[in-house]
This record gives sequence, C-alpha cells and structure tokens, in this order.
Amino acid sequence: MDNQLLKGKNGIIFGALDERSIAWKVAECAYQHGANFVLSNTPIALRMGKIDELAAKTESKVITADATSMDDLDNLFQESMQELNGKIDFILHSIGMSVNVRKGHDYYNQNYDFTMKGLDISALSFHKIMQTAWNLNAMNEYGSILALSYIAAQRTFPDYNDMAENKSFLESIARSFGYHFGIKNKVRVNTISQSPTITTAGSGVKGFDGFFKYADEISPLGNAKPEDCARYCISLFSDLTKSVTMQNLFHDGGFSNTGISDKVIANFLK
Ligand code: NAI
Repeated sequence: MDNQLLKGKNGIIFGALDERSIAWKVAECAYQHGANFVLSNTPIALRMGKIDELAAKTESKVITADATSMDDLDNLFQESMQELNGKIDFILHSIGMSVNVRKGHDYYNQNYDFTMKGLDISALSFHKIMQTAWNLNAMNEYGSILALSYIAAQRTFPDYNDMAENKSFLESIARSFGYHFGIKNKVRVNTISQSPTITTAGSGVKGFDGFFKYADEISPLGNAKPEDCARYCISLFSDLTKSVTMQNLFHDGGFSNTGISDKVIANFLK
C-alpha cells in the first residue's frame, strides 16, 4: 500500500509498548503512508517495551512523557514541533490502564485512589493532551485527534470494571473538545471503539479470552483486527475525512448492531 495518505503530515503517537499494541500498528501504517511523527510513552514503558525497535523501523524519535503530567506534555509538544519542523496534524491517544483491574479489585470493591488514577491515565489524559496542544497553538488547520475506546462505554461488560466509566468519560471529552477545537481551527476529534484485541492492556481484563471469542462469533465480520484498526485511524488522520468530528466510531466487525448470531445460537442447541 503506497497511497501516501499522510505525506507531509506531522503526528504524535502515544501508547506503543510492543508489537501487539494498537499504537504500534498505527505507527507502522502511518510510516507507510508517508507521515513524520514522534512516538511517546512513559519511562517505564520504554524500559519494559520495545519502542526503540519501532522508532528505528519508522525513522521516528521517541520522547518520553507521562500523559497525566502537564509539564511532561508541554515539553513533549515543544520538542515534537522542533523535531518535526512544524505544527502537528494528527495525534493518537492509545492509552489505558485501570489500577483496580491490575490489583484485582472487583467493580463493587474499588479502591477510589486507584479509580482516580485510572481515570486520570485512561481519560483525563486525553483532555490534558488537547489542552496542551490548544495552549501552545500546536495544531495545524484540519488536524485530526483520535483516541481508542471500547463498547463498555455504552453497554455493561462486568469484568471491564471501572474502565467502562473511563471510556464513557473519554468519549464525552472527544465530543466536548471536538466542538471547541472545530471552532478554533477546524481540528477534528473522534474516538474509535475497537473490537477486543489481544494486547497487554486487553489481556489484563478478567475473562478476556471468553469475551474475545464471544465477540468474534457475534460479529458478522468477526473481531476487527488491529491492522485494520490502524488503517481506519489513517483514514481519519487523512484529508479524506475532513468533516468527521465529535463521533464515537465503531470499528468492530458489526458487533455493536448485532443482537444474536447463528453461530452463538448453535452453541445453545448442542
Ligand atoms: P497496550 O498495553 O499495548 O497499550 C496501552 C498503553 O498505555 C501502553 O503503551 C502504556 O505504556 C500506555 N500508558 C499507560 N499509562 C500511561 C501514562 N500514564 N502515560 C502515557 N502512556 C501510558 O494495549 P492496547 O490494547 O494497544 O491499548 C491501547 C488503547 O486501546 C487503550 O486505550 C485501550 O483501552 C484501547 N482498546 C483496547 C482494546 C483491546 O481489547 N486491547 C479494545 C478497545 C480499545
């Protein structure tokens, strides 16, 4: 694929940890499409993950930032604009973590310090990133900002725990900031609601294998693959989608609009 949909565009991609990460696939695809970008993640992710490998492959620079820290974000945007020689055209927020899930707390037994930390990392960070870009006037006209979400924002998936509220908050931020950024300089803000995907964050959810298979059997197209999610992100960063904003866009093989499938029914007739 050499359509070069992002030729001449500058970006910041948050959240590539290893080759399974959705952000990793987006970075590979953005590179194929001619984009210049900076990769960002936390210092610990840099130590534990493989981001340097991705940086070498995509000829990009890595700049560390904890996406909950306004100082880190300010530094990241300033350095990125220097490195990329101009303002930013696209941003990917591919960040999520529930401390309650990680520490084995059920939904009805949350530690609220953990809840607030998870909310800060998974949702408020999206606002912080956009507020930083806003204050530095860092976005080019018709830029595009995306975050990754999950359908637990609309429907209950019990073991998704407090990440459900985090995703609702994230999607709401996209709508509200999308309004303001649209008025300011025609910047688009959307969320993509992706199928269950086998990654470090995804497999941390209790019962993940079960609901991965269930979603796969319900969805007419099967679960959406991370590589396809990456291509969808590229289309939303490109000039092909200049009027799409303030949306939560399902990228899920049809899961969100399917009540039941023949495959799932067959399991109950055995
Ligand atoms: P991943 O584990 O590869 O990526 C999560 C990233 O968040 C990691 O790179 C991690 O270092 C980063 N992160 C955590 N705390 C951070 C902080 N304070 N500052 C900056 N970065 C931080 O997993 P995945 O699945 O690629 O996750 C990316 C996004 O996709 C998340 O928002 C996740 O909720 C979402 N998503 C994932 C699905 C799945 O089934 N894997 C389904 C739908 C959405």
